[in-house]
Amino acid sequence: MTDEENRSAFDWETRFIENNTPWERGGLHPAFEAWHRQAAFRAGERAAIPGCGRSPELLALAQAGLAVTGADLSATAMAWQRQQSDIAARSVELITGDVLAWQPEQAFDLVYEQTFLCAIHPRLRGRYEQCLTRWLVPGGRLYALFMQKPERGGPPFDCSLEAMRTLFPAERWIWPDARHIRAWPHPKLNDKAELGAVLIKR
Ligand SMILES: C[S@@+](CC[C@H](N)C(=O)[O-])C[C@H]1O[C@@H](n2cnc3c(N)ncnc32)[C@H](O)[C@@H]1O
Repeated sequence: MTDEENRSAFDWETRFIENNTPWERGGLHPAFEAWHRQAAFRAGERAAIPGCGRSPELLALAQAGLAVTGADLSATAMAWQRQQSDIAARSVELITGDVLAWQPEQAFDLVYEQTFLCAIHPRLRGRYEQCLTRWLVPGGRLYALFMQKPERGGPPFDCSLEAMRTLFPAERWIWPDARHIRAWPHPKLNDKAELGAVLIKR
């Protein structure tokens, strides 16, 4: 294995146990809040967050009346999500395991993708795109935040727009106009930009 492949066997569980989670903003992502203000998330819709970790967006979607499923490898992160949803008395579905092997019985109206794509090794990206294609209904939306990281290696691994346009090709995905792709700096990751874009599955 190369160094880069080794690094993909990242110990996420220990990161959560030790609270060493610099990717967490400590609140809702401002892009999520902006989409929410624009009424992007509608009560009754089915939503999934792959690699949800302790993302507070899971509960926020449930509170907005969506049927939400979160999936993650980390038992510690999922226990945290269970506790948050119990406290808020909201029902969410939580799946602990490898999301790339997950086959949901029913498709989703939307997927919220936040620092999961950049967390997996780039060699797994094609598999993830196939999963997203299967998981979403035709016309389903992918709310994506593409991490920009010019340095080599990861996680996080760079998700350049050029690479993303190849990964999510026009024959399967409708891309927004460039003016609707907005950069959101991540204050806990040296202000690295995350490019927020909503892609529609054909
Ligand atoms: C950088 S964290 C992001 C967590 C969350 N999305 C957030 O924004 O706070 C990456 C997450 O992906 C999870 N993860 C990595 N590989 C996974 C896999 N194959 N299946 C499920 N979860 C995975 C990790 O456990 C971790 O919670």
